[in-house]
Amino acid sequence: MQIFREKALLQREISRLKKKKNTIGFVPTMGALHLGHLSLVKQAAKACDAVVVSIFINPTQFDNLKDLENYPRTLDTDIALLKDLQLDLLLFTPNTEELYGKQIQAGHFDFDGIENEMEGKYRTGHFNGVGTVVKRLFEIVLPDKAFFGEKDFQQLQIIRKLNEKQNLGVDVIGCPIDREDTGLARSSRNDRLSANLRKEASFIYQMLMKVKGKFGIENANEIKGWVENEFKNHPDLKLEYFEIADSKTLKSGKNNDQKLTYRAFIAAYAGEVRLIDNIALNY
Ligand code: PAJ
Repeated sequence: MQIFREKALLQREISRLKKKKNTIGFVPTMGALHLGHLSLVKQAAKACDAVVVSIFINPTQFDNLKDLENYPRTLDTDIALLKDLQLDLLLFTPNTEELYGKQIQAGHFDFDGIENEMEGKYRTGHFNGVGTVVKRLFEIVLPDKAFFGEKDFQQLQIIRKLNEKQNLGVDVIGCPIDREDTGLARSSRNDRLSANLRKEASFIYQMLMKVKGKFGIENANEIKGWVENEFKNHPDLKLEYFEIADSKTLKSGKNNDQKLTYRAFIAAYAGEVRLIDNIALNY
């Protein structure tokens, strides 16, 4: 694995590969890698000749300074995990100045309203920060395909919009959610859960599966009320939102248009730890 701190050196290697007609896959991350991230890297390696993985904790997507400071920084273990895959990877680990220069600021994007739903309501400015950094990374790496997890489904749709509206010309691929044995979606935040809370948190996925069973039989409002009630029986978990929404626009509504594809979304706190998950309902 080759490691690059400077974009110029990475770009030189990428253009060398492109001249040899290699296709470039790209997996952007913020590090603290786990099996969920690695599943993206494996999928990229299957689909492309060369894979660039980036590790960069993007300051502009944190709405809270404490969250940014507390974000796990585990570069040595991350490198070891990537090396263990035994794939020919290019790892890009720029510092903040390398990506942002002296102005650490997010741009402002119009994502046709997707940015105002769910996560957008609870994490002010988050998607402007994500859009800013992903646009910069795409412009440096110039990937043929870029891989994002459905775990952050709203982010995936934001990236698709970004790519389309800014003509970035990347094939954006959504990858399935990788889960722990209990069904809990893998996340670097899971390590902050006590053993007991980690067990409790699998309730989130259990609910999503039950919602999938009810979808099309009960209406969206009934399902929502039922979910909110069920969470009340689990005092260790605090539901922040439950939504059933169109997977393209992320708008909730009556959810009975046969032509649309719907997903259910949950954000909930397990103790202090905020967890998100989602599931496809009718596709
Ligand atoms: P990060 O949270 O590190 O996630 C990097 C990628 O891994 C994202 O596409 C995310 O959806 C995916 N991922 C995380 N957990 C997953 C799981 N259990 N199964 C499948 N995929 C999973 O998302 C970000 O970083 C940042 O916002 C970023 C896009 C890098 C921009 O800074």
